[in-house]
Formats: sequence, C-alpha cells, structure tokens
Amino acid sequence: MQEIRFVGRVVVVTGAGAGLGRAYALLFASRGASVVVNDLGSNRHGDGSSSKSADTVVQEIRRNGGKAVANYDSVLDGAKIIKTAIDAFGRIDVVVNNAGILRDVSFAKMTDAQWDIIHDVHLKGAMKTTQAAWPYFIKQNYGRVIFTSSNSGVYGNFGQSNYSSAKLGLVGLANTLAIEGERKNIYTNVIVPTAGSRLTEDIIPPDFFEQLKPELIAPVVFWLCHEDCTENGSIIEAALGWAGKCHIIRSSGCVLRQNLSDDLTPENVRENWSKVIDMTSAKRLTSIQEATGELLGILENMKSGAPSKEVDHVMRSTY
Ligand code: NAI
Repeated sequence: MQEIRFVGRVVVVTGAGAGLGRAYALLFASRGASVVVNDLGSNRHGDGSSSKSADTVVQEIRRNGGKAVANYDSVLDGAKIIKTAIDAFGRIDVVVNNAGILRDVSFAKMTDAQWDIIHDVHLKGAMKTTQAAWPYFIKQNYGRVIFTSSNSGVYGNFGQSNYSSAKLGLVGLANTLAIEGERKNIYTNVIVPTAGSRLTEDIIPPDFFEQLKPELIAPVVFWLCHEDCTENGSIIEAALGWAGKCHIIRSSGCVLRQNLSDDLTPENVRENWSKVIDMTSAKRLTSIQEATGELLGILENMKSGAPSKEVDHVMRSTY
C-alpha cells in the first residue's frame, strides 16, 4: 500500500504541546509536513503559560528528522500563529484547531468569566486562527480546516454548559465554512474525539483511559486534512481506532393545520405531538435551501387545501 505523504504542506496544530495535538503534530511531521507546534502551555483551566510543552514536541519532531517550529501564543492571537507558519515555511495549508481548556461548573453557579474564557479559547480562538489562514487558502485554492468538538456538545454534559455550547458552536462555524470554502477547495470538518489526556484523566476510569490513545485518533484527523480526502462539512467521531460520521436528523413532522385560513391552537399541537416527534421516517436535510424548500412545499399544500393526510403522504414520498 502506498504511504500517504504530506510533503510540501505546512500544518498548524494548536494546543500541540500535549494530548491529542501532540499526536497530530508528530504524525503530520512523520509524513513530511512542516509543522507549527502551537501551545500556550497553560494548565487545564487556562491559567499560566510556558514554552516548555511546545518546545518539547518540536524537539521530538526534529530528533525524528522532521520539520517543526514552536509558537507560544494563545489561539486568540491566531494571526501570530499563522505568521509563524509563513515566516518559517512560507505557506499555510492546514489548520487543526485543537487547543482547549475546561472550567466545569453547574449552570446555576457559572460566572461570566467562566463562560467567556471557554468561549474565547474554543470558539473565538478557532475562528481567529482559521480566519488568519483563510486568505492564504483562497489565494492558493487549497486549504483544510479541522475544528474540535466534543460529545459534550453533541449530547450535553452536566457541569459543562459553557464548554458544550462552545463545542457545538464550532459545528455551526464548520457548517458555514464548508459552504464558503468549497469552491476554493477549502474543506472544513469537525472531529469529536475521546482520548486519554490531561483533560480527561480524572473523568475516565483508568483501564478505559489507557486504551483511549490520542495516536488512535491522529490518523483520522490526518486523512481529513489530506488533499485526496474530499470530505467537507462533516462531523466525525473517533476513538479507540474506530471512526464514524454524525448527522443531525429531523422527523418528517406533521402539518398541524390544513388551510392557511385555519388558526393553530395549542390543542392542535397537543393532539398531533406524537406525530411531530415520530422519528420513524427521520432524515437528514443537507442544506438550508432544502429545509426552506420543504417549508415552501407545505405552504403550497396549505394554499391548495390538501387534506392533511395527503400532505403527509406528499412529504413522505419525497424522502
Ligand atoms: P490537553 O489538555 O492534553 O491539550 C490541550 C492543549 O491546549 C494543552 O497543551 C494546552 O496548553 C493547550 N492550550 C490551552 N489553551 C490554549 C490557548 N489559549 N492557546 C494555545 N494553546 C492552548 O487536552 P486534549 O484532551 O488533548 O484536548 C484537545 C482538544 O480536544 C480540546 O479542544 C478538547 O476540548 C478536545 N476534546 C478532548 C476530548 C478528550 O477525550 N480528551 C473529548 C472531546 C474534546
């Protein structure tokens, strides 16, 4: 099997001084990429800074014969991180937004500061770093972006309202960048990892923790960033050497009134609720145009006064 290489490509990995980011940086470098190892060197709550973790990974890469430079800026200073790539290697091809911290607290007790720092690092930091690379991607007609979400964002998790909202915000950001970048060969995807790291060491039981090696997620991120991979706008969950794609799906729903002239009452909603939430014929809508198109179809049916069963049938037959 021919080895997949990354020669001539320049990759920024944020938060690459430890955990998942370190595994990504080592893999990219081992396959020929020039890597900017960004890490603020903060603790898991985002306090403090140190050049040590980024330096250690850069030394490791160089010892193995790879090319890497360190950057110690916060992802909020994303332009400086991208400048490091341009200054050192003359281009930027891939941004893996991975840096992250936690400030877990129940919603009732959460302060503005605990909300803001999580949204700053995860959502705004990823935006700032990616936005600084975007003009280069457009100019060279090529770019790959990874955002790092979490099952906490997809499903929710007690004590993580700040983190889960920022993490699902990244899915929304990816959805739009996938559309804006597509024509310029800029593909954006989201990884949902589960890995043993500093962030999870006191949460995941030790036996499971040991098996959840970051190195088992890195090849998935690597492939998503490769020029041969055409995936765009996807959410990919990965752990343990397993990977799968996530979708948001919607029920086929139920028309709650038959004619435009009919009122909609709370009682209509109550009577039809089981049909609204019946997921038997659920499907994925792939675009805002498709969602709006379905609404226009419902409107047309209402205008023509089609009986609700017929409307339901018309809707289902398009699935
Ligand atoms: P980690 O704590 O081992 O690594 C995160 C790195 O980001 C640290 O080295 C830290 O210094 C750096 N960092 C923190 N704030 C920064 C900033 N403002 N600018 C630059 N660097 C900064 O954590 P891990 O587990 O490797 O997490 C990586 C990403 O994966 C995070 O975004 C995390 O939220 C996400 N994630 C991790 C999961 C897991 O199971 N480990 C699950 C779901 C998501």
